[in-house]
Amino acid sequence: MKKTFALLLTAVMMLALLTACGGGDKPADTTPPADTSAPADTSAPADTAEPEAPAAGGNIGVCIYKFDDAFMTTYRNALEAILKEKGYEVTVVDGNNDQAKQNEQINTFITQGVDALIINPVMTSAADTIIATVKSAGIPTVLINREPTADQMAAYDKLVYVGCDAAQSGTFQGELILETPNGGDINGDGKISYIMIQGDPENIDAQLRTEYSVKALTDAGKEVEQLNLTRGDWDREKGQTICANDLAQFGDKIEVVFCNNDDMAIGALQAIQSAGRKVNEDIYLVGVDALDAALNEVSNGNMTGTVLNDANGQAAGAVAEMEKLLGGATYASGEQSVYVDYVKVTPENVSDFMK
Ligand code: BGC
Repeated sequence: MKKTFALLLTAVMMLALLTACGGGDKPADTTPPADTSAPADTSAPADTAEPEAPAAGGNIGVCIYKFDDAFMTTYRNALEAILKEKGYEVTVVDGNNDQAKQNEQINTFITQGVDALIINPVMTSAADTIIATVKSAGIPTVLINREPTADQMAAYDKLVYVGCDAAQSGTFQGELILETPNGGDINGDGKISYIMIQGDPENIDAQLRTEYSVKALTDAGKEVEQLNLTRGDWDREKGQTICANDLAQFGDKIEVVFCNNDDMAIGALQAIQSAGRKVNEDIYLVGVDALDAALNEVSNGNMTGTVLNDANGQAAGAVAEMEKLLGGATYASGEQSVYVDYVKVTPENVSDFMK
């Protein structure tokens, strides 16, 4: 009798256990809600159907659009250091500014079974293909530096973009000019005459910096005159050549040189100095990124100012978002962009940014 009762009890307990383990109703969806601010809750209950997040030590593939880019060099070094410090195996590859090559690199990483990808696309226009590829492989992916549209990102919920709001950097550039003693109108003719040296125009950073730097001036009620706008593809040598040509053509008419990034501004500075012009006296010069070389020039008075494009902050943000994805987080459409703030750098605060 005792034995029968014990058997009955065991059967009842087993039934209860089976039900708890999912033998009954489908278990509730344990996917954490999309949350781009708080760290993902990785303390999932023991009986969850979600796969365990790989502990730090997973394999991460990092695709950079090209190694030969001053800002992305600082960025990728920061990214690699943070990932290694956290114990991940990291492979960083150079896309050589060739989207077809980068597509192959992404496929190779997928075949190798990486746990997550961090991708700096070569072409923003290739975002659809990249997103479709990582989605069909189910690889959690963080896009960096070149922002796709919200609609493109909505195709895959294990995808997040970490970067900055490019419009903000343009606005800050315009403000740097407005804050000069004559508000950018050096010759006092009532208008600000400028040249614009643009990054790769396919890139949203180039588009929005170009637009918003000038918008800050017109929003402040200033009259502006664009003497020239030329693409310099983020490149120092092109910045120098473009600025030299424009100085030869427009001479003293140029009051402001807007550069979409610091590397082009450093090139432009060489042209300005060769033409015998003096920054902050007879011409203004602004960039974006706060590269070490630019910080030195701001501090020496050879650049009017720059805007910190926080490579370390973005690298840390990219790794944090990657870890949320590895912990099982998904992102709702419209909430797939995480921004790090730009900071205005002037002669007054430049020392805060210098190492
Ligand atoms: C940076 C540029 C860089 C570009 C690469 C921009 O955010 O300001 O310096 O060349 O990203 O995509």
